[in-house]
Amino acid sequence: MSGIVVLGVQWGDEGKGRIVDLIADRVDLVVRYQGGNNAGHTIIANGKKTVLHHVPSGILREGTLSLIGNGVVVDPGVLVGEMEALSAAGHPVSPANLLVSDRAHVIMPYHREIDVLRERSMAGRKIGTTGRGIGPVYEDKYARRGFRLHDIASPDGFRDRLGIVMDERNAYIEKVLGGRPLDPEKVYEEYVGYGEVLKPYVKDVSGIIRAGGAEGKKILFEGAQGSLLDVDFGTYPYVTSSNAGLGGVFSGTGAAPGLVGSVVGVSKAYATRVGEGPFPTEESGEIEEALRREGGEYGATTGRSRRCGWLDAVALGYALRTNGVSVLALTKLDVLSGFEKLKICTGYRCDGSVTREFPASLQVLESCEPLYDEVPGWEEDLGGIRSAEDLPANAVGFIRKVEELAGVPVWIASVGPARDMYLEFVEHCP
Ligand code: GDP
Ligand code: IMO
Ligand code: MG
Repeated sequence: MSGIVVLGVQWGDEGKGRIVDLIADRVDLVVRYQGGNNAGHTIIANGKKTVLHHVPSGILREGTLSLIGNGVVVDPGVLVGEMEALSAAGHPVSPANLLVSDRAHVIMPYHREIDVLRERSMAGRKIGTTGRGIGPVYEDKYARRGFRLHDIASPDGFRDRLGIVMDERNAYIEKVLGGRPLDPEKVYEEYVGYGEVLKPYVKDVSGIIRAGGAEGKKILFEGAQGSLLDVDFGTYPYVTSSNAGLGGVFSGTGAAPGLVGSVVGVSKAYATRVGEGPFPTEESGEIEEALRREGGEYGATTGRSRRCGWLDAVALGYALRTNGVSVLALTKLDVLSGFEKLKICTGYRCDGSVTREFPASLQVLESCEPLYDEVPGWEEDLGGIRSAEDLPANAVGFIRKVEELAGVPVWIASVGPARDMYLEFVEHCP
């Protein structure tokens, strides 16, 4: 197996964390390439639940080195807290199993403040962000006024530049958003403290990836969020502020294209979305409630209820094409047990005509009516199933239908949240 990318092909929370944890056992390096602690990746291993926000989902596998790439935005207080919590839970974290890029941008307190105040001021038009400062930190990165981890780990000149940037950011907070200014000296003290703790972990991660590739190490690139939240290919402006899709791998790690051999798209067997924005196959009433209840669809980061609906093969096909996905990991198949009929959206009716393309315009997307194919459901509980031969015929039929519509095969289907609750179609192993 050469380098492998694992990314979400819906609106996030597809189960990327558990799929990365599963594959991490077979690789040497796991690299997060974008996003920040807006991510919440859940792994259930040996009866224990771990939710990761910053630390890559390979951390629970001994012998795997976890790397945080330059495309990730790091809230250092959250990262330090997560490292301590992992160590306390019996997964010791040290520079032997975790490193973070010196070029990764740092989420500052004013980023969180701006995120929250801005959402509050956008009544009726809010994005429904996680409030973690993600949009504002990426804005500052591209406005060339950001701070990177090397700035707080070796803080020469940090105080002076922080003062200048915070004068400007405080004026924005006070005069535009009606908030209270933050104290640069307090921020300086707090962040230099984090810098001291993190210093042994802060390295040239792209160099480590390059060297690893040259030594023939197996590398897994871990995405956060999902392709439909990608700032370029998602449902803009209801997206996150980074490239959650394949492009983010290269800009967010410095990896050469030759290090990527295959792309695993992670999709639920149905669809969910947290926050605002279009969702053509969203259900309401009994179906949504059943999916939320059976799937435990509450956000791993903010605890918000996730909106639920049927699998959308139009959106999925678009996500697979824009990311060069080679195989699918289809998660949460078990959640569909008990539905008499299952629906999959195969087209949209927009303005009287039928399309199978995913439109760029939100106005068009919002006016689209989903067109469904129906397949028969199954009653059986799938939780104990570990091989394809033991699946009910209708569950196999559902998988085949997804493969036919997606145009790529299913490699892994998961049937429960715990580490071993999956079945593998080994013939499709990348
Ligand atoms: P991520 O952000 O893509 O890593 O996904 P999250 O961890 O935010 O959300 C996925 C949720 O589904 C978590 O609560 C997982 O424990 C759970 N989960 C993952 N795979 C399965 C599965 O096959 N069946 C069920 N029932 N739950 C799953
Ligand atoms: P994982 O990695 C689901 C959503 C937010 C909001 C939009 C913008 O766990 O799949 P942001 O805070 O990024 O500015 O919010 O993106 N969002 C996610 N939804 N899973 C995530 O991450 C998400 N990260 C951000 O709900 O709609
Ligand atoms: Mg999540």
